[in-house]
Parts: sequence; C-alpha cells; structure tokens
Amino acid sequence: CVFKHAKSASEYVAAQIAELIRERAAEGRPCVLGLATGSTPTTVYAELVRLHREEGLSFAGVHTFNLDEYYPMQPNELQSYVRFMNENLFDHIDIDQANVNIPDGTLPEEEVLAHCAAYEQKIVDLGGVDIQVLGIGRTGHIGFNEPGSGRESRTRMITLDKKTRQDAASDFFGEDYVPRRAITMGVGTILEARQVYMLAFGEGKAKVVAEAIEGPVTPIVAASFLQEHDNAVAVLDEAAADRL
Ligand code: GLP
Repeated sequence: CVFKHAKSASEYVAAQIAELIRERAAEGRPCVLGLATGSTPTTVYAELVRLHREEGLSFAGVHTFNLDEYYPMQPNELQSYVRFMNENLFDHIDIDQANVNIPDGTLPEEEVLAHCAAYEQKIVDLGGVDIQVLGIGRTGHIGFNEPGSGRESRTRMITLDKKTRQDAASDFFGEDYVPRRAITMGVGTILEARQVYMLAFGEGKAKVVAEAIEGPVTPIVAASFLQEHDNAVAVLDEAAADRL
C-alpha cells in the first residue's frame, strides 16, 4: 500500500487496529497486538490516542507484545522501549498495565532464555498475535532480527549489527554507548501473527524496502521473509516506495 504521505499511511494502519479492537470488544474476546518502536510507528500511536480520546476507543480488552528491547536496559532509561511505549501510547490510553508485555532488559543473563520462552508461551496462551506492526531497520531487520536471522528464529538474545548501532548512536549520545545486544521476537514468532503491517517512510528506507519486497527471500534481509506471509502488507509513503 503506497500512500502519498506518512500521515495518511499511519491513519490507515491505526484504523485497521481500531476496527479489530472494536470487533473483539463486541465479541467479548481479547485483542492481541504486536507493537514496534522507532520513529516510524509514532504517528500510528498518536492516532490511536486520538481515537481513544475523541471516539472513545477502549483498550481495556487489548493485550500488547512489543517486539524487542535493548539488553541490558532499565525501564526508566531514556532509550528504553518501556519508556518509549509509555510516552507514545500506554500513558494516554485505558490499557491495563498487566496486559502490556515488553521483553525485559533488566534480567540477569542466565534468566534471559527462560524469559524468552515464557514470552512466546504467553502469546500462544492468548491465541496468538492478531495484528503485528513492524518497522524496518537499515539492515533489513524486523524487530532486532539482524542479518543471519533465520525463518525459524524465535524470541532470543541477539547481537546488534554495526549499522543498527550507528543508527541508534544519536539516541545514546554516541555509538560507544549503544548496547551491543538486544532481546527480540524471532522471525518465526513474527510470521505467526495473523496480519502484519510493515511500515516504512522516507527515502532513507527505499533501498532496504526494495530488497525486502522484491529481492530474494533470505536471512540476510529478515524482512524478506514477510514475502512468505499470506497477510503481510507493506505500508509505505511515496519516498520509501521509490525503488520498487
Ligand atoms: C529499531 C527497532 C526496530 C525499528 C527500527 C527502525 O531498530 N528495534 O523495531 O523498526 O529501529 O527505526 P525507525 O522507525 O526509527 O527508522
């Protein structure tokens, strides 16, 4: 789906999410959202906040699972994805904090493996992710699935690519301060979502978007695995679609 501007693209995705939330609420069933961080989805979240405030969209029955978190990372740190999600979405809606799930960057290393398995299990117990929102990194990553992440990969600790750490450098006031690792849902985890929206905006994403959508399906570009998903939609602005 190519939109003229990122704003209309974001409103489209927010509308799809809102429709699902309302449907599930009417049925009395929980709605499970997979959420992403980064600059790309912020307008989607702003639109969801607007729908909550102005149209009474309730998140009371919504469960969320974020894709990833830096490791190590304390929730109150400036760059933490917990903080990002609170500031951009959760602080402004009526979601139950108990229904919010974000990989835990505070755990001692020996507990991470069990945490990742429990994270996966919780998604399964809730019936799976209904809508997964994704951005795409310059390395072709979805979540933090860096080059080399296979189709079957699950939630796990990963070493961040140099390019990813460079892109995060300004957030951390220098590349040296960017964590070397992160916890991320796997490609396999992401592909199990019933509906996927991969968002990309701006000319800086055009090259990797073309590789992901029109290039070979390969672990070198984790987003390319979305080609094998029946309900994956790339939601782009014209600039990001420029090389298609
Ligand atoms: C980070 C996140 C990804 C995100 C990517 C792109 O690496 N972990 O989930 O897709 O950044 O970020 P941006 O949307 O700011 O371009």
